[in-house]
This record gives sequence, C-alpha cells and structure tokens, in this order.
Amino acid sequence: MWKTLRSVLRFRRFEFDPVLRRLGRCANVEDLRALAKRQVPRGVFDYIDGAAEDEKTQQRNCDAFHRLEFKPRVLRDVSKVRLDSKLLGKTLPMPLVLAPTGFSRASNSQGELAVARAAQRAGLPYSLSTLSTRSIEDVARVSSGPKWFQVYAWKDKGLVKELLERAMAANYEAILITVDTSVLGRRERDVRSGFTLPPKVGLSTLLDGILHPQWTMDFLRAEPISFANVAGRGVGDGSDAISLADYINSQFDSGLNWETVDWMRSIWKGPVVLKGIQTVEDAEIAAREGIDAVALSNHGGRQLDGAPPPLELVGPVADKVGGRIEILCDGGVRRGSDIVKAVALGATACMTGRAYLYGLAAGGEAGVDLVLEWFEESMRRTLSLVGCSSFEQCNSSIVRWRTG
Ligand code: FNR
Ligand code: LAC
Repeated sequence: MWKTLRSVLRFRRFEFDPVLRRLGRCANVEDLRALAKRQVPRGVFDYIDGAAEDEKTQQRNCDAFHRLEFKPRVLRDVSKVRLDSKLLGKTLPMPLVLAPTGFSRASNSQGELAVARAAQRAGLPYSLSTLSTRSIEDVARVSSGPKWFQVYAWKDKGLVKELLERAMAANYEAILITVDTSVLGRRERDVRSGFTLPPKVGLSTLLDGILHPQWTMDFLRAEPISFANVAGRGVGDGSDAISLADYINSQFDSGLNWETVDWMRSIWKGPVVLKGIQTVEDAEIAAREGIDAVALSNHGGRQLDGAPPPLELVGPVADKVGGRIEILCDGGVRRGSDIVKAVALGATACMTGRAYLYGLAAGGEAGVDLVLEWFEESMRRTLSLVGCSSFEQCNSSIVRWRTG
C-alpha cells in the first residue's frame, strides 16, 4: 500500500505569497473574475463587470466568439509558430492592445501603473484613459513601452488640447478618440448600488469594507483617488464622490462630430484610432477621411444596449475598407483563441478591457501578467491546432459561423 501511495502522492510546492497562491488556483479569465468578485467590494466589482441596461450587448460580445468555430487544418508542420504582427507601422509580439479603462485604482491601488508595467513586460501597447487615476506623466515614468492615449471630447476644448500636447510630450504613440460616449450608458448595477467615483467607504459600505479587508486597507493606505489628468482644471477631478453619469453628462461634449475629430487631428501628429465605430457606414467615412484605424467597439456593452457585437462587424468592415484602414476589434475577448478568430475574419488586432481588470482586481500586477501570459499561450496553441504557423496564414478559411 505504501509503495502505491508513494507513487501517486504529489504535493505542490507551498506558495507563501497569498496573492500568488490564489492566482495559482486560477486557470482562465472566468476564474479571475470569480476571484475578483471575492476580493473587491460589490459596488467596485459591479462597476467593472457591469454593462448598460439588460447587459445583452455585453453578453453577445462574448457569445459571438462562441458562435464562430474553427475549421482546423492538419498535417501542416506547426513546429515553429510565430505570433508577431504589425499595427500602426510597428511590429508587436502579438496582435493585442490593452484597452483604456477609467478608474483602475478602484481595482487596486497601483491602478494604471501596474497595468502599464505589465503591458511593457509583454511588449504590448497600453492605452491610458482620459479618466485614469494616474496621470499621463506618471504612467510614462514607469513604462517606456508603447503607450496610447485615449481622448474624450470635453466641453473644455482647451483641456483637450492640453491633454493631447501632454501625451505628445510624454511620447505616447497614438491616440484613441472614443466616439461612443456622447452621453453615458445607463449601467443599472451602478444605479442600484449608488456607485460613485471614488468609491465611498461610509456607513453604507462599511460592511462591504469589512468583508474585503485587503482591498479596504489597500484603498485607505494609498493617497486619495482622483482623475489624475484633470486635477486642478476646474472640471471636477473626482476627488469628491460623484456618479460617473453626472460627471460625464456635465463635462463631455455631446456635440462631438467629424469636425471635432479633424480638430483633434490638427493637434495630434501621430496615428489616430477612432474607438467605438459600430457600422460599416461609419468605418467607410473613417477610411475616406484618412483615419489610421477604427476600433470596432461598443465599449464592452457599457453604452448602448442593443449595439452589435464587434466580432460580427469585423468581416463586413474588412470587406469594405480592409487594406485602406486598420481594424481593431474590442469587446468580449477572454481567450487568445478569441483573438485568432478576430484576426481570421480580418481584424489587425484586438483590444481587451475587463480581462486584465479582473486580473488587476484579483491579484494586482501579477494578475495582469497572468492574463497576458494566458493570451499568448492560447494564441500559440490555437494557431498550432488550426494549422497556421503565423498570423499571415490566418484568414477566413479557418473559421465559420455556426448555424445551429
Ligand atoms: C471601459 N472602457 C473605456 N473606454 C474608453 O474609451 N475610455 C474609458 O475610460 C473606459 N473605461 C472603462 C472602464 C471599465 C471598468 C471598463 C470595463 C471598460 C471600455 C474599454 O476600453 C473597452 O472598450 C471594453 O472594456 C472592451 O470590452 P471587454 O474587453 O471589457 O469585454
Ligand atoms: C466607463 C467609462 C469610464 O466605461 O468610459 O466606465
């Protein structure tokens, strides 16, 4: 009996770091999501995880990837698989960009700094949100990797100009102009919880705080959270608790139009990406205007519930304007295999938002590293299993939409 037992007993080396121990038990982004849900207060989790109204668009963003299946080819020698790919004139180690997400310090006190460092380690562009809780300059100080800056159209045009100039001075490579947020979508989980930025730790949330002691200590020990890019600009910097809807609806210019885009392009000298294009028609205008790339995106389902899943738009947009404009696909990416599917349909690259935020909330910077490692491994494995040794061989012949 002892002999048999000895032959089967295997103990994992004990991991003393509790964060790494918890991460070590996760196998995919859904596991990180579940861990994040246990780690951070309910209101914070719902802000990240939630979406507009019935959250159908968010669900469909993910479902679309499951509706597309592979047509794997075999016996094609995949002993060497390369993931490198070109985006906006640069070669990336894989076709992936970290999408801009506001208020990352709600997940973990390191916030945007942690994500930017992880992106740099992976050699991927990190997009900093206008509504970030670390400034353009602070992020540039911790990461010399490729960085993009996301711009919202503030009513205060002087502020927009100043933000663009600061991003240029700090060597950000490209801007993403977010065009799907003329007003904020109705995120009903936030309406119910009364979520504010910054999250309030008052009587009503005290219990939540006690139930999430690690997050609470991390939050209380760090310096106060604010919208670091606009501090002192008289537009409200988030240092007083305010709902995001009130903030955005009072500060952003819902008059944003193609002329505003022209105006931003007259200031910004590098590549421009329009983020939030949701029809072939708008992609055609963007191509005609000479925009460098469109990010097919519905803001992760957080804006217009009922908007189409970006993956379904990739093929039709690539058919019309592929070759004239680069195409990013964002929304619902949870695995590297999802990125392979989007590229097969004609996307140049994908962006990911929640996947890395779940990692950040679940395990800080190490959680973001883990997500990026999984994406890399999954892309490599998927390309091998579908019979492609690089993204150059990855085209619509390897996928089909499920009909049943
Ligand atoms: C976002 N997103 C976003 N987009 C943007 O242009 N500026 C922003 O400040 C934010 N903020 C933000 C916060 C949070 C918590 C989330 C989840 C998302 C949208 C983001 O860039 C991206 O479009 C989506 O996250 C993509 O969908 P997935 O990957 O989250 O499914
Ligand atoms: C959001 C904003 C910050 O989606 O864009 O929460």
